[in-house]
Amino acid sequence: MNEFAQLTFEEKTIELPVVRGTEQEIALDISKLRGQSGLITLDRGFKNTGATHSAITYLDGEKGILRYRGYSIEELAENATFEEVSYLLIYGELPTEERLDWFNNSVSHHTLVHENMKTFFHGFPLGAHPMGMLSAMVSTLSTFYPAAQNANRSVEDIELTIHRLIAKLPTLAAQAYKHNTGHPAVYPQNDLSYTENFLYMMFGLRSEDYMIDPVVNSALNKLLILHADHEQNCSTATVRVVGSSRANLYSSISAGISALWGPLHGGANQAVIEMLEQIKADGGDLQKWIDKAKDKTDSFRLMGFGHRVYKNFDPRAKIIKVAADEVLEALGVDDPILDIAKELEAVALKDEYFVSRGLYPNVDFYSGIIYRALGIPTEMFTDMFALGRLPGWIAQWKEMTENNEPIGRPRQVYTGHTERSFVPMSQR
Ligand code: ACO
Repeated sequence: MNEFAQLTFEEKTIELPVVRGTEQEIALDISKLRGQSGLITLDRGFKNTGATHSAITYLDGEKGILRYRGYSIEELAENATFEEVSYLLIYGELPTEERLDWFNNSVSHHTLVHENMKTFFHGFPLGAHPMGMLSAMVSTLSTFYPAAQNANRSVEDIELTIHRLIAKLPTLAAQAYKHNTGHPAVYPQNDLSYTENFLYMMFGLRSEDYMIDPVVNSALNKLLILHADHEQNCSTATVRVVGSSRANLYSSISAGISALWGPLHGGANQAVIEMLEQIKADGGDLQKWIDKAKDKTDSFRLMGFGHRVYKNFDPRAKIIKVAADEVLEALGVDDPILDIAKELEAVALKDEYFVSRGLYPNVDFYSGIIYRALGIPTEMFTDMFALGRLPGWIAQWKEMTENNEPIGRPRQVYTGHTERSFVPMSQR
């Protein structure tokens, strides 16, 4: 049954098709609105705009629901491996044992990066931010694999690019960290799992004296799963828009990494720890910082609080908070920053300003505390987010490509000068 909503403007009534999703989300299809009426819609920050149909991730911000391909984030974080979740997001179904072996085997064959990539790393200054390096190096991959840009790329070409990217991102992230600290790169070891291999490349100098702690590995696995997709967020929308011009996957993901870096998005995990350290160094007066966050003349915001779509709670933050306690206990870490985080959360959640605006701790509020306990340096936190988000970005890019979506190109309401005559220099 076709449903329509009616829009009346200047005595003309237009019928807008109604679109319903499988979870009964209702949208008005305005794609023909301009042709029918000359009107466009205005929605700064895309707060209320559906950019696409998608069958990958379902999110209900009011109820705090997050599901990948129908499976709840709670069940996946508890029972799955990051490799399984990556497969699920990209291929749409949980893998059989045989398919997972095939996937893992293929990925582990591509973990090395070309030796010439070292030259690029050497060009970065010591202490270069790992996110800047990661974005640049992923874009650089496109020059080593030019077939990815081929307009007639086959399904097999695309699959190879996907497996290469999944395989190489941990290697590049670990090498970015090594460059940042001035240490030699550690090459991948392909008999390790995805997360073990990353930990080995980060912290192992010689295979015989580095033991991967199962607590650390399991926490990392959970963190990556929780970050794996989040429907049309800023970085994912970036990946889709860049990819919609038929740019290759490496360039599209590189753009997504850049979008993620901002402190209002994934960069918040680094900003949260820096904020908590600042509060601690300042004497720990929480009310002072809460007041600053509420003061509209002060640009300070409580980092790790608030979310565009979650207005009651962020289900990922709920899981991470429990995991943070478990990890700190298992590793015997006593982190005063965690105490400040908990106190800050308690004070903010009672404050009318935060309650009335639905500002709750988001995924980034507690993830940094776990990363610290795992020994990951603060500047690497957003790279960790990027590792987790990669399968989601890939799945979204693939869906967009397979659906042959049109190029992303918003419109605007022009508010500048109307036409005026050029004024010669002598008369200005
Ligand atoms: N501290 C203080 N006030 C805040 C905060 C905050 N962290 N977040 C939002 N507000 C206030 C705004 O000032 C605004 O107040 P007003 O209605 O009086 O003008 C109101 O809450 C709504 O905020 P918006 O900025 O309009 O909400 P938006 O959906 O555009 O932004 C965002 C969401 C960017 C996440 C915001 O809450 C924020 O900046 N949070 C801090 C950064 C952060 O933690 N980012 C990570 C998000 S999770 C992720 O991307 C993985």
